[in-house]
Amino acid sequence: MTPPTNPEESTAIRAAVRAHYGARAADGPASPCCGNPDSAPALATLYESPDVANLPADITGLSLGCGDPLALASLEPGQTVLDLGSGAGLDCFLAAQRVGPTGHVIGVDMTPAMLDRARANARRLGMANVEFRLGEIEHLPVADASVDVILSNCVINLSPDKPAVFREAFRVLKPGGRLSISDILAERPLPESVRADLRSWASCVGGAIPAAEYVAALEAAGFVEVRVERQFGAEEAGLEACCGNDALPVFSARITARKPVSAPLVE
Ligand SMILES: C[S@@+](CC[C@H](N)C(=O)[O-])C[C@H]1O[C@@H](n2cnc3c(N)ncnc32)[C@H](O)[C@@H]1O
Repeated sequence: MTPPTNPEESTAIRAAVRAHYGARAADGPASPCCGNPDSAPALATLYESPDVANLPADITGLSLGCGDPLALASLEPGQTVLDLGSGAGLDCFLAAQRVGPTGHVIGVDMTPAMLDRARANARRLGMANVEFRLGEIEHLPVADASVDVILSNCVINLSPDKPAVFREAFRVLKPGGRLSISDILAERPLPESVRADLRSWASCVGGAIPAAEYVAALEAAGFVEVRVERQFGAEEAGLEACCGNDALPVFSARITARKPVSAPLVE
């Protein structure tokens, strides 16, 4: 079992993650998650949808994801969608195209420079049905039971308090609402040396937990029909070069889950 982080560690992790992604946002396009352009996976590898090719290259160039959370999301016109850790906004823009003018997409990110990029991109694309909010995914600035589908791409591994993220996701989803995530999971609990390394955390490795722990945390928050599908190995997901480790015990997975239509009665 992966030990929880204490409050001091959590504060240091959040600061390191915010600094890392603030720098990525400032670097401009073609700046991959783990800092080595040679390791960046092609978007055509990560994304199943051909829609991604229709967005400007400098917008898709700041994609820092590890999969395609829209692939299993089955978005429909008119839905409200929330993207946890929206970065420069790519998944929000793809979602906005699918939910159409009667739908609404909210991206939440804790890094101001990323929000600036995302808002500038939305203006440039003329997308009126997307908004970006500053906030932490452990304390979502989103109303209760207001969202049909939650997306997230390579973000929850970065949170030092994953149970809080899943409780918040459950709170903001409508009854019957769904979660469709791409994220980095660990083959087994990571060694303390990796978990204590802030650069590893910021690079989407140090905070990865095993699938069984991830599933247990989702179920503890109240989610049902939790499914995990392994998708890419560390190298394919662009992670290997970041940490100077030849055989990172992590992989990219798709995780889906649902909030029950009626919550169980609590005595
Ligand atoms: C690896 S990037 C992924 C960005 C985007 N989802 C994508 O696919 O391009 C991680 C993003 O999550 C944000 N983030 C990390 N931890 C967060 C947290 N606890 N609350 C809100 N945002 C967070 C970072 O600021 C960064 O923009």
